[in-house]
Parts: sequence; structure tokens; C-alpha cells
Amino acid sequence: MKSIKKICCIGAGFVGGPTMSVIADKCPHLEINVVDINKKRIDAWNHADFDCLPIYEPGLKDTLKRCRNKNLFFSTDIKKNISSADMIFISVNTPTKTKGIGAGQASDLKWIEACAREIGEYANGETIVVEKSTLPVKTAEMIKSILSSYININKKDQVKEFFILSNPEFLAEGTAISDLEHPDRVLIGGENKNAIESLKNIYLNWVNEEKILTTDLWSSELSKLIANAFLAQRVSSINSISALCESTQANVNEVAQAIGMDSRIGKFFLKPGPGFGGSCFKKDILNLVYICNYYGLKEVASYWEKIITINNWQKKRITRIIWEKMLGNIAGKKISIFGFSFKANTNDTRESPAIDICKDLIEEGCFLSIYDPKVDIGQIKIDLGSEPTKYIESSNNYGQWEFALNKNDSVNGSDAILILSDWSEFFNLNYSLLIKKMRRPSWIFDTRNTINSIDAKNCGFKVWSLGDGNIL
Ligand code: NAD
Ligand code: UGA
Repeated sequence: MKSIKKICCIGAGFVGGPTMSVIADKCPHLEINVVDINKKRIDAWNHADFDCLPIYEPGLKDTLKRCRNKNLFFSTDIKKNISSADMIFISVNTPTKTKGIGAGQASDLKWIEACAREIGEYANGETIVVEKSTLPVKTAEMIKSILSSYININKKDQVKEFFILSNPEFLAEGTAISDLEHPDRVLIGGENKNAIESLKNIYLNWVNEEKILTTDLWSSELSKLIANAFLAQRVSSINSISALCESTQANVNEVAQAIGMDSRIGKFFLKPGPGFGGSCFKKDILNLVYICNYYGLKEVASYWEKIITINNWQKKRITRIIWEKMLGNIAGKKISIFGFSFKANTNDTRESPAIDICKDLIEEGCFLSIYDPKVDIGQIKIDLGSEPTKYIESSNNYGQWEFALNKNDSVNGSDAILILSDWSEFFNLNYSLLIKKMRRPSWIFDTRNTINSIDAKNCGFKVWSLGDGNIL
């Protein structure tokens, strides 16, 4: 097998961008070209101002400053960069199908298939093709069959040979750079030992060998789906218990701490919240459900489906609680939304629980003043499917929303604050300052357990905190 000098990554998204930045940073001897069909995205990755990158990720700017235009390049020239690459990562989107067979559950693999065709067409000589996207188990079979149809049709009679590897990505948004620099494990699945070694040698530049696990292709593909399903399952488990705590005067954080100290259970992923968001948990579980049903495993499918049922229920019950606490009428009331991203430290809003909860509140007739440290107004317009309106006191503000540049502007004349993302700034709110600008009674609804309930109450707030059954 030839030595790896040039890498091409197809897909410059939340995975392709950060992953290739870290590989380039750790492997200055490699040339890495990240390509995408989306010119606007590529232009943003190439922007002279590092504050205009297409995604916000702590540490990303500094990593890029060290390697962009040195050994890391972003481009729309897919053909050129595929044809000169020794190794090609496929890092394109794999959303849930919206129509046809498997709609609403199966993964839409049309972008994967397009990549396979482009690789088949343009690649030269021996090429290692790495699945970085999250894929249904057995997708490598589909990629292999497409690639093999190009093997003998090279115009210059040059031999093409492909080796397929699965190398799923486990980074979480908000901590992507540190997850990539210090992974719990790197998983490489494949059939060809030399190809596996080539990819392993890249990671060995910064990852200890004992953290690099090699498996067969199918175990690797499936492990990625299962890891996400297990993580989401823990969130749904603790969220279901948050409701039970509210009904029994228990406190979910204390329960989480007590069970998490059992080393068999572990303390991570036990934070209650308004429901998990992000582009992957829901789609990957839906895909798992589809695969189980496909193989006739109905009970297994329905077990995993419940994780999503609980997640939807958790989002729905937030609006109902606000409605009940505010005496059965929230129409015309102003609610300040603190946090719109699906979690802290990212500008990503895909599947953010804030979207569904804000839509429910708007449906009830509330006026929302939405503030998020990193999400911009354009994204909120897309997510809510409506235009913002300026809040005017004592006017007809029913079922509308505005974009607030900061917390203080947002709370002017508000009846309530609703905390939906766990940004660090929501852990140190200036309760006395905020309440002065609000109408009375002033509520804080905290779905992320960021606030100090006692301090907030001492300043005059009425408080509801998710999973806290002790709050009066
Ligand atoms: P994304 O939508 O942010 O990026 C995908 C990019 O691929 C887009 O910019 C799109 O224009 C590009 N693309 C699609 N088809 C193309 C083609 N034929 N040629 C060139 N470019 C093409 O998606 P993402 O969040 O980066 O996720 C990518 C994959 O990684 C998904 O399978 C996802 O499940 C998986 N994953 C995501 C995360 C995460 O945190 N977002 C973490 C681990 C794994
Ligand atoms: C998740 C996984 O953690 C990654 O390992 C995986 O690579 C990635 O999905 C993927 O495949 O896309 P991500 O969605 O970026 O990463 O973020 P998480 O930290 O997992 O959070 C997901 C959602 O669960 C967020 O809405 C978060 O607020 C919520 N969550 C998480 C909780 O409500 N409680 C917790 O204890 C943890």
C-alpha cells in the first residue's frame, strides 16, 4: 500500500471541518483538502476574519490559525482533490428520509451515494475510502458495490483499487476540538489490514495505541449508532425521573448524584433538561428502529423508540407547566427565552428543544424575546418559520417574537424568563437587576438547573426548576 500524503475530506460541516483541522494540526506532514458543494460554507471556512467561520466551536479558531492554508485547504474543487488523494473521508450529512420507503425513520443515503460515485469516477490508483459519516450498518456494502463498478472503466487503463474503512466520529459539539485531541477511543473497522494500519498511523501521531480499537466493518458501523442510542437513553431516563421527582418532593439532581456515584452507573449524561437536541440522537435512534424492524426485531425496535417518545413528552410538558404556573393564561404575556442552541458552546440549533418549546408558546399566544449568546437572528427565523416583530408594551403582541441582543434588553416588561440552554452565563444571573425590569409576578422557569433558586427567590422571583419537587 502506498504511503498516505494527501487526504481529501468530502463535507465541510460540523464534523468534516473540526476533524480535519485537528488531523492537519497534528500531522503537518499531510496535505488535507476539505471539499464541499456548498460554496458559501467553503467561503466562510476561508474567511480572513476567524470570527466568521461557519461554525462556533471553542478552540477551533486557534487550531485553524495554525494550519489553514499551510497544510489544510478548503475548496469546492471536488474532482481535483479526489483525484489526487490517497485517502478520502466521507463526512456528508445522513439525515432521516422524508419521503418514500422508510420515510421518517431510515437514513437518506443519497449524499453518500453521490460521494461514492464521485470517488469512483475521479479517484486514481489505490485509494482508501473512510466512512466518517454516521451510517446504517452494511452501508459499506453499498459503497463497495458502487466503487467496484468503476474499477475497469478508467479511460487511461490505470488500475483503480478501493479499500473501505469505517471510522465513526464520536465528537460532541461544543467540545469538538478537545474530544478530537483527547478521544476516549478511535474506532476503525475494516477488512484490509494495510488500510487499517494506514489510518491507524495517522491517529498514532497524537492518540495512544491502546485507545485505537480495530474491528470488522459491521461492528464499527453499528457501534456508532449504538453509542448514540445509549447516550440518548440516559438523557431520556433521567428526564423521565425529573417528572417523578416533581411529583414526589424529591430532587432530580440529588437522585442523579446518588445513582451516579455507583461506578457501575457512572456520573456522566445524567443532567436533566428540556429534552435532547442536536442533529444526531433522534435521527440515529430512528435509524436503529428502522433497522430493527427491517430484521423483524419488533420488540427491540419499540424499546428504542420509547427514548424518542419520552424526549417529545419532556419538551411538551414544559409549556404546560408554564401555562399552569402562570394561572392558565399565557396569551399576550412576554416570556424571555434564554438560550436557543441545542446545548451550550455551539451555534447549532438542529433539533434544539428550544424550537418546539418556542413554537408551542407562540401557539399559546405568548410574545417571546429570544436571546442566545451565539445563535443569530437569521437561524431563528428559519427555525420558527416566521419573522420577528418589535415588542410594544400594551399593544397586541400575541404569538410573536423578537430577537434580543442581550439578557437585559430581553427582560424589559417580561412576565417570565425561560432558560432552555446551559450556557455558562445563565449560571450567574444578576437576579436583582433583571427583576427590576420585569412585570410582577416575575417568574423564572429553569429547565437546565442553572440558577440558584434561593438567591432568585430572595430577590422576589417565583421559581420553577426542572425536577425539583421541593420548590414551593
Ligand atoms: P453537516 O450537514 O454540517 O455537513 C455535511 C456537509 O456535506 C454539508 O456542508 C454539505 O454541503 C456537504 N455535502 C453533502 N453532499 C456532498 C457532496 N456530494 N459533495 C460534497 N459535499 C457534500 O453535517 P455534520 O453535522 O458535519 O454531520 C456529518 C455526518 O457526521 C453525519 O452522518 C452525522 O450523523 C455525523 N456526525 C455528526 C456529528 C455532529 O456533532 N454534528 C458528530 C458525529 C457524527
Ligand atoms: C452527541 C454525542 O455525545 C457524540 O458522541 C456524537 O458524536 C454526536 O452526538 C453525534 O453523533 O452527532 P452532541 O449531540 O453534539 O453529541 O451533544 P451531546 O453533548 O451529546 O448533547 C446532546 C443533547 O443531549 C443536548 O441537547 C444536551 O443538552 C442533551 N443532554 C446531554 C442532556 O440533556 N443531559 C445530559 O446529561 C447530556
